[in-house]
Parts: sequence; C-alpha cells; structure tokens
Amino acid sequence: MAKIIDGKAIAAQIKEEVKNGVEKLAAQGHTVTLAVIQVGEDPASCVYVRNKKKTCAQLGIQSISHELAEDISEEGLLALIGELNQKPEVDGILVQLPLPAHISEKRVIAAIDPKKDVDGFHPYNCGALMTGEKGFLPGTPAGIIQLLKRSGIGIDGKECVVVGRSNIVGKPMAQLLLMENATVTVAHSHTRNLAQVTRRADILIVAVGKPKMITGEYVKPGAVVIDVGIHRMENQKLCGDVDFDDVSETAGAITPVPGGVGPMTIAMLMANCLESRRMRL
Ligand code: GUN
Repeated sequence: MAKIIDGKAIAAQIKEEVKNGVEKLAAQGHTVTLAVIQVGEDPASCVYVRNKKKTCAQLGIQSISHELAEDISEEGLLALIGELNQKPEVDGILVQLPLPAHISEKRVIAAIDPKKDVDGFHPYNCGALMTGEKGFLPGTPAGIIQLLKRSGIGIDGKECVVVGRSNIVGKPMAQLLLMENATVTVAHSHTRNLAQVTRRADILIVAVGKPKMITGEYVKPGAVVIDVGIHRMENQKLCGDVDFDDVSETAGAITPVPGGVGPMTIAMLMANCLESRRMRL
C-alpha cells in the first residue's frame, strides 16, 4: 500500500508559518490585505472564494470582497482592478476564474499589477518563472514542490512526468521541476502511448481534469503520484484524476482527494500575500 501524502497537514504547517509572519508585521503596525474579486455566482467559484476568505481570516490577513454581477462589462472589471492597483494598502488582487464568456481572462489578468498578482498568472510573473527571476509563483505547482520537499521526496535527477499543459498547472509545474534538476516530460491529450510515458516517472503529476483517468497500469511500482484533479461524482463524493484505490496498490506514495494538493494551493496563496506586503515595506 502506498504512503499517503497528507496535504492538509503540510498546508497547516505552511499556514502556521504565514500566520506567524503576519503577526510579526502586525506588531510593527502593518496589515496584509487581499482583494478578492468574483464575477457571477458559479457554485464551484463560490466554494473556492469562501475558502480563501476564511483562510485569510484564520491567518490574520484582511480580505476585501468584491462580488460583481455576472453581466458586469469588461471595462467595469478593468476599472476596479485599476483602482485596486493604485491602493497602497492592497497587497494582493485575486480574480477568481473562470470569468463569464463576454470578458477576456487574458486582458483581465494582464491588467493586474504584477507586484499584486498573488495568483502568479500575469505574463510578467510567468516570464520571471521561465528565466528564474524573482516573481510570484502560482499556488498549485508551488504547493506541489512544497508537498514533495516537506515529505522528504528528492526531486534532483528524478524522472518527472507532468500530464497536462495548462498555464495554471502543467506548464509552471514542468518549469519548477526543471529548476529542481529533474528530468521533465510533459504529456498531454495528443501524447501517443500515454501509459508508456507515465510509467517512466519516478514522480507523476496529473492535471488532466478527467475523473479517475490514471489507473495502476499508468504507474511504475513505487512511484510518487500527485493528483491535481478534483471532481464530484454522482454519489456526491469527491475524486481526483487518479483512480486512488487502484493506484495506491502500485504507487510508493500518493496524494488523496480531498486533502492532497487542494489545501496547498490556498496555503501558497496566503504565503504570496505575506511576501507581497513584505516587498512593499
Ligand atoms: N480558478 C481555479 N483555480 C484558480 C486559482 O488558483 N486562482 C484563481 N484566481 N482562479 C482559479
């Protein structure tokens, strides 16, 4: 049976560290502030936004909520971002994605001051990641690096396979693993013989958005398997992109869903908010 990588416990450690950092700043008279923008009422977004605001409160970070109507214009949203960019007390600006179809996510992300882009989605921060400059890292891939390191799993020289090539997870994940001196393969929907590729992995990271797609036959015995997916099944239970029951018989270590990668994403977002305030002192 595979060892379970407890994302909830590791995220709790990181949140404790952030909370201590926030308290230190508070003692010097500084407040950390995150502006959270949600457009419309997508049910999944409502859950994510509620969790982010709740976590802010637990760590002493002030959150300012902007709940906008589904039919707000792109100009209206860009104007709000412009105002928040100018406010010295705002350290982070988070626009919950996805946005309604009439608004360009690209234009909206590009409008955020890169120094307040705590999601790490702005092209400046993406570019900084590619060249190894200082910038904000996106929470999910940065959280996965922390999960591995804090579980004592070495990355240097390992064969890592990332399944999925999104801007939010797959691409930055590959780059972060490369920076840790892994040999990295990015597989995706056009990859031929996917199982043959994934079976090379010492560390397999799956972000494909398909429930239970990765079964035991995709996994080398003893491999570390990180599951980024989260889906609600018909029986209302949550599952990942990895068939947990099947893969845990083959893998050496595995993240559960829920309680694996998910809590890490929020913890890293909070760490970015603290870092943002520190940088503007
Ligand atoms: N939608 C899904 N994941 C994310 C995320 O990490 N940040 C934002 N802003 N929206 C998301």
